[in-house]
Amino acid sequence: MLLDGKVVVVSGVGPGLGRAIAVRSAREGADVVLGARTESRLDEVAKEVTALGRRAVTVPTDITDDDSARQLVRTTIEAFGHVDALVNNAFAMPPLADLATVDIDAVRSAFETNVLAALRLTRLFVPELEGGGSVVMINSAVLRHSRRTFGAYKMSKASLLALAQSLATELGPAGVRVNSVAPGYIWGDSLKWYFGYLARKRGVDPQQVYDETAAAIDLRKLPEPDEIADAVVFLASPLARAITGQCLDVNCGEYHH
Ligand SMILES: NC(=O)c1ccc[n+]([C@@H]2O[C@H](COP(=O)([O-])OP(=O)(O)OC[C@H]3O[C@@H](n4cnc5c(N)ncnc54)[C@H](OP(=O)(O)O)[C@@H]3O)[C@@H](O)[C@H]2O)c1
Repeated sequence: MLLDGKVVVVSGVGPGLGRAIAVRSAREGADVVLGARTESRLDEVAKEVTALGRRAVTVPTDITDDDSARQLVRTTIEAFGHVDALVNNAFAMPPLADLATVDIDAVRSAFETNVLAALRLTRLFVPELEGGGSVVMINSAVLRHSRRTFGAYKMSKASLLALAQSLATELGPAGVRVNSVAPGYIWGDSLKWYFGYLARKRGVDPQQVYDETAAAIDLRKLPEPDEIADAVVFLASPLARAITGQCLDVNCGEYHH
């Protein structure tokens, strides 16, 4: 197992990728610390982790709040004594609007979660990660295109990429690796709902929407949450011990990088 005996902290455990990262980490032998604001969700995912025979610690956390983020670190250390990997998965979606008109406060607020909170949390965990730990930032394929209305999201994720790369340089000498995973489509509940909505609007079968989308992708399919989570597990694991400062695109070949 890739993460046997390791401790993985997942910041931003939602129903989609965050859950998948926690569960796939546990399947690979990790004990998992689950952080997000919604306690009931953390409890649900914790049940899945413990069903796999691993320990789960839930810590209701708002990563934009300094005290709350510090509490996540404290609880982790009290529970396990050490940390092997931190996954920064939490995000805030800024309004989908052109940069020429988008509300600046909303852009600032997305930066607060997507960039500054990831920096805050990573800094707080660094002393625990020194000497072999790993950080994975969850980025997005928005890095690879500049479609209208995605500008604010792209700004924040491009900044998150810069953060990951600079931290890799700063923390490398202390033995901490920092990498990014950039998913494209994620074939999970929200996208299934959205394709259903598009299909109803057009009076076609949802499978048709899927097939049309997949036709432009090398592998003719959309990546599932577990498939993206496995790339995160890999980067968090000793198999990736010589990899830092990199961004792994997990998109079934939609974009090449
Ligand atoms: N969904 C996609 O299609 C897609 C595509 C490409 C990239 N991504 C990236 O993949 C990652 C996961 O996306 P997802 O849609 O699958 O989300 P998810 O893992 O289902 O949920 C992310 C969770 O982050 C938590 N979060 C947000 N703000 C927080 C805060 N201030 N403090 C603590 N937790 C916070 C939210 O939970 P609470 O509200 O309970 O705090 C939310 O449920 C994101 O980084 C996203 O940018 C997603």
